[in-house]
Amino acid sequence: MRTITSLPEMTAAVDAARSAGKPVGFVPTMGFLHEGHLKLVRESRREAGLTVVSIFVNPLQFGPKEDFKEYPRDPVRDANLLEQEGVDILFCPEAADMYPPGFKTFVEVRDLQDKLCGASRPGHFRGVCTVVLKLFDIVRPDFAFFGQKDAQQAVIIKHMTADLNLPVTIKVCPIVREADGLAMSSRNTHLSPEERHAALVLPRSLEAARQGYLEGERRTGVLLERMAALIKKEPLARVDDLAAVSPETLEPVANVEDEVLFALAVFIGRTRLIDNALLGSSAGPAAKR
Ligand code: PAJ
Repeated sequence: MRTITSLPEMTAAVDAARSAGKPVGFVPTMGFLHEGHLKLVRESRREAGLTVVSIFVNPLQFGPKEDFKEYPRDPVRDANLLEQEGVDILFCPEAADMYPPGFKTFVEVRDLQDKLCGASRPGHFRGVCTVVLKLFDIVRPDFAFFGQKDAQQAVIIKHMTADLNLPVTIKVCPIVREADGLAMSSRNTHLSPEERHAALVLPRSLEAARQGYLEGERRTGVLLERMAALIKKEPLARVDDLAAVSPETLEPVANVEDEVLFALAVFIGRTRLIDNALLGSSAGPAAKR
């Protein structure tokens, strides 16, 4: 595996692969890797001839009161994991190169960026879109892989890619969970043992919604109430956002007819965790798990 920090060197390395006829797969991450990230890497290895993974804790997507400084980092362990997965290039740009003094250009996907997590994290998706567009321009991948864990992020990136005619295909991979159901996240390491246990309220509340749906309840209001009631019973948990929305427009939906995205953000102590599930006719196994 080759590790690159220089932006022009990264672009040149991929140009060489492309002229050799290899489709390029790209997995952008903020590091502190877990199975969720590695699943994306394996998908890329399956579909592309050259796999690039980036690790960059993007300051632009953290609010002033958020955990940029405390965001977990372990570059040596990450590099070893990626090496074992057969990744071709690890790209670790410097913040000073990504955002040199005088940087003034930002990407916004209006409307979608303000819903769900965007409401409590103003500027977050502007930071995500700006860095992802820059990374796409530097790496120039044919395929880029994102996780359904961050469902809103995936919707927004797909929209940006279509709106700006970017020559990349976005692939979204299912949520990878711990054995007990908690969605894997770099932020899970912030949790104390009691909080780790309390965090199970996220997947359990989604399970309660799924159960209600399977029993025939179609009103999202009723299903969301079930979720809220369950979370309320957990003293370490505080709901930040709970919604049933269209998976394309992120607009609230009143009844589960077509596919509906149930998304939640919950503070467990000081750590904000997110999770989601798709319910509805075309949701397939996710609705029946
Ligand atoms: P990060 O949180 O490191 O996640 C990188 C990718 O891994 C994202 O596409 C995310 O959805 C996916 N992922 C994380 N946990 C997952 C899980 N349990 N199952 C499946 N996929 C999972 O998301 C970001 O970084 C950043 O916003 C980034 C896109 C890199 C831009 O800075």
